[in-house]
Amino acid sequence: MAQKTVLDLQKMKAGSQRIAMVTAYDATMARLVDAAGVDMILVGDSLGMVIQGGTNTLAVTLDEMVYHGRCVARGVQNAHLTVDLPFMSYQISPQQALASAGRVMKETGCQSVKLEGGARTAPAIQALVEAGIPVVAHVGLTPQSVHGLGGFRVQGRGKDAADRLIEDALAVQEAGAFCVVLELVPAALATELSARLAIPTIGIGAGVGCDGQVLVCNDLLGLDSRFQPKFVRRFATLEAPIIGAVQAYVEAVRDGSFPAEEHSFHDKRGPAVLARVY
Ligand code: KIV
Repeated sequence: MAQKTVLDLQKMKAGSQRIAMVTAYDATMARLVDAAGVDMILVGDSLGMVIQGGTNTLAVTLDEMVYHGRCVARGVQNAHLTVDLPFMSYQISPQQALASAGRVMKETGCQSVKLEGGARTAPAIQALVEAGIPVVAHVGLTPQSVHGLGGFRVQGRGKDAADRLIEDALAVQEAGAFCVVLELVPAALATELSARLAIPTIGIGAGVGCDGQVLVCNDLLGLDSRFQPKFVRRFATLEAPIIGAVQAYVEAVRDGSFPAEEHSFHDKRGPAVLARVY
């Protein structure tokens, strides 16, 4: 089976089929989520938090996105692969966005890039689309603007903020984005946007009315019990079993029960020959 294209994803909206998107940051996780049948894999700059341990995504570099994008691409067979453009790799000018997105497309093998921002990002989106680069837009809570927004807060509450968000979503569609992530948006507003937009909406903390959903793989799998925002459902709780497995390994090494005979190699030629071989 070939990787899903932008046309496949747009057809899913037309056929009222929900789109399941999840993040991945390395080839192993990419292989697993791809095997589970996700429609889209996002190499999110959330890796600045869940992989690098930062408190936000601002420090992530283009080189790091290229590195993780390339790793993930090696594990994907069926899902559509999109890679985030990190903070300050596209905000300066459409030319800068073209150079950054071009590099990501050439060096990772992904099929699209994601950019944060509404009307203000529209000129960059348009330049990429004109160059043949499919774009996923991202409005609502845009984590690269966390300081400007005063924290990780729900956006679009109240009439003025909702109107601005609608303008942003329409602007990215008009600029040519083929789908749009809605992050931390009131459910009714996200439902209205999903009805008004021709392109699929992918929600995270945006209620039940979106055309698809995205979650960070670490959150979905319950890898960090310290982090459980309202919009996350843990579909597994893997933190404790992972710690338990590694504790068992540590114990086995310490008590000498690992490695056992079945993990050992032998050479029937005997010590004299082995001295020469090794
Ligand atoms: O970086 C990321 O993982 C994202 C998703 C949460 C939408 O942007």
